Amino acid sequence: MPDAPRPSASPLLLALRQGTQACHKTLEARLPFFSDSFDHAAYRRLVEAYYGFHAPLELRLSGYQGSERHKAPALCQDLLALGASAAQIDALPLCERLPSITDQASALGVMYVLEGSTLGGQVLKRAMAERLGVDTNTGGAFLDVYGSATGSRWRSFLQRLEQAPHSADGQARSVACAVATFQCFERWLDQRQVLESR
Ligand code: HEM
Repeated sequence: MPDAPRPSASPLLLALRQGTQACHKTLEARLPFFSDSFDHAAYRRLVEAYYGFHAPLELRLSGYQGSERHKAPALCQDLLALGASAAQIDALPLCERLPSITDQASALGVMYVLEGSTLGGQVLKRAMAERLGVDTNTGGAFLDVYGSATGSRWRSFLQRLEQAPHSADGQARSVACAVATFQCFERWLDQRQVLESR
């Protein structure tokens, strides 16, 4: 996460950053991407667990964002590239304890987390290419899901945050939902046994 917010950041973005900074830190520290023992098999298990979270959550978001922001198809592509069959992907467990999306404010909180993760994805893409030799066609499509549009997709999401109706209530709902997204994701990954222990 950036240390200091950029001057043009909207109040909602600032609140989301501040509200989720600790969650990001905790989850980042527990993800195994940089651990010594991380190998292809562990990477596949992690992608399976990511799929189990993103697929059902994106279904819930479908009234609030276009399918161009869906990342489950890239995860599916990665699993196929990593050797999973379509039947194995269909049989993967899906997370049921998800943040509840009741309106645009809560949807924006969830989207902030999922869209923001494309920024960290740029770091992970390079690391996984180096460590596992994984690229877009061999299991790393999700990590670079927007490719060269990563920056412009993020900026257009920030515009959406700026244009959202301002209310203290709405802002609180967005932040609570963003925090819940991080927490649900961490709990799910823990349950799938793909995280480092605390
Ligand atoms: C080891 C894993 C991860 C690393 C190394 C990482 C790294 C980063 C980095 C470097 C940024 C800042 C990018 C920039 O300002 O250009 C960032 C931003 C962000 N990441 Fe992560 N990240 C990781 C995992 C995640 C996960 C799993 C999520 C959520 C599911 C996530 C959500 C976010 C969000 C929401 C931001 C946006 C912050 C903002 O600018 O407001 N990250 N991450």
